[in-house]
Amino acid sequence: MMDQAVAVIAVDGPSGSGKGTICQRIAAVLGFHYLDSGALYRLLALAARRHKVPLEDVEDLSVLAEHMDISFRMNADGDHPEVILEGEDVTAQIRTEEVGAGASKVAAIPAVRTALLSRQRAFATAPGLVADGRDMGTVVFPDARVKIFLTASAEERARRRYNQLIGKGESVSLPGLIEQVRARDERDTRREVSPLIPAEGAEVVDTTGVDIEQVVETVLKIVRNAGISTYRV
Ligand code: DC
Repeated sequence: MMDQAVAVIAVDGPSGSGKGTICQRIAAVLGFHYLDSGALYRLLALAARRHKVPLEDVEDLSVLAEHMDISFRMNADGDHPEVILEGEDVTAQIRTEEVGAGASKVAAIPAVRTALLSRQRAFATAPGLVADGRDMGTVVFPDARVKIFLTASAEERARRRYNQLIGKGESVSLPGLIEQVRARDERDTRREVSPLIPAEGAEVVDTTGVDIEQVVETVLKIVRNAGISTYRV
């Protein structure tokens, strides 16, 4: 079981809410560990492909989820985390659309989610953890000291995605992306397993039209109000 003395800050929300960037900033300010739980589902999809485990094979997928050889480390500049699978840096590979689609499939399997529970909880070590995901405050860390639900309007999240894709040289339509984001919200909030909803007691932070620095300040204020010191000793 989790060490109750370790402070956990659970941050949930849809993609495009700015969660990843904000969680990494908060973890750096506090000197806490950072868990990118979405990366675990992405790693599982990639590991399944490598080991030729079909995404429908619930039993083998669960075994793989429990035993896959993964680790996280900071890059040489110390400014972003790298993701390692079986000794190989797969940071870029897990971000492809194909792996993302696989991650979404495996994340819908209850046995897989259960198999990943203890692996996620193992990240809660001293001095503390910032856990980023969809069900951190509801399922994985129900006793978290702080629970935050980050969100933004569908239009704004679609616009952020649009800018990312245009930056990568892809041609996409903004209205099409807005439709996709709305459809995904509908699926995510209604699904039976770990639906994407704010945990009880979570503070909802809307990042629509707010810059990253301001959101970081707002989250740090919530963290301080919960009695967690934001000054590193
Ligand atoms: O945040 P992300 O795009 O890296 O997440 C990858 C997939 O995993 C996405 O389909 C949502 C899912 N996910 C989840 O179901 N639960 C989490 N705690 C984190 C991610």
